[in-house]
Amino acid sequence: MTTSTQYDVFKEVMLSRASVKRYDPNHVMPEAEIDELLTLASSAPSSWNLQHWRYLVISKEEQKQKLMPIAFGQKQIEEASIVVVILGDLESYRTAHQIYGDAVDQGQITRELRDKLVSQIEGAYADKSRSQMDATLNCGLTAMQLMLAAKAMGYDSCPMGGFDPSKLVREFHVPDRYFPVVLVSIGKAAQPARPTPRLSLNELVIKESF
Ligand SMILES: Cc1cc2nc3c(=O)[nH]c(=O)nc-3n(C[C@H](O)[C@H](O)[C@H](O)COP(=O)(O)O)c2cc1C
Repeated sequence: MTTSTQYDVFKEVMLSRASVKRYDPNHVMPEAEIDELLTLASSAPSSWNLQHWRYLVISKEEQKQKLMPIAFGQKQIEEASIVVVILGDLESYRTAHQIYGDAVDQGQITRELRDKLVSQIEGAYADKSRSQMDATLNCGLTAMQLMLAAKAMGYDSCPMGGFDPSKLVREFHVPDRYFPVVLVSIGKAAQPARPTPRLSLNELVIKESF
């Protein structure tokens, strides 16, 4: 049962998150806070718990300057304390043995269930387009958690799809196994986000069937 305080705090975090595009360029995010943020982000759910995300963290000036033209010169890249490139894992089935091995060792599942799940995963991800689709979907979930965690820790953020993925892969030496899904800039706001409208529930919700 959630208390009203818990609900109020969560609602405030959720509703105050908005895409900030100007940050204090002098703010340095301590390593411990980066670790805390990414720990919270990585607690997101994922298909078969395969955790199809990897986080390429850009904080050094030189690396930000490399990323700037790849993200079409968006100012937030150089002003943010960090930019997290969320990479999708195209071969997440490779992690299944480790994850389900740990689950057996920790007494969470039986060996029989592990074998069944691993073979299910290998079957599903033999289809490469399924692998990519799942990785994209699951990266979206961790990105959202990252942005909410940032807000709760006193930071602001902005998701960015405006970048050239092949240039990013080339310049940052991303191995073939991974592909960039979305960038998330995080920092101390120097200017508030522009308010944005939302569609009404009348436009968004279909009850039971079309
Ligand atoms: C997948 C995705 C890609 C986006 N790409 C960019 C981007 O490249 N640059 C940018 O300034 N904002 C980008 N945005 C931010 C959206 O414009 C913003 O989320 C939307 O207008 C709603 O505003 P809000 O985030 O403040 O609620 C992106 C958002 C998402 C979810």
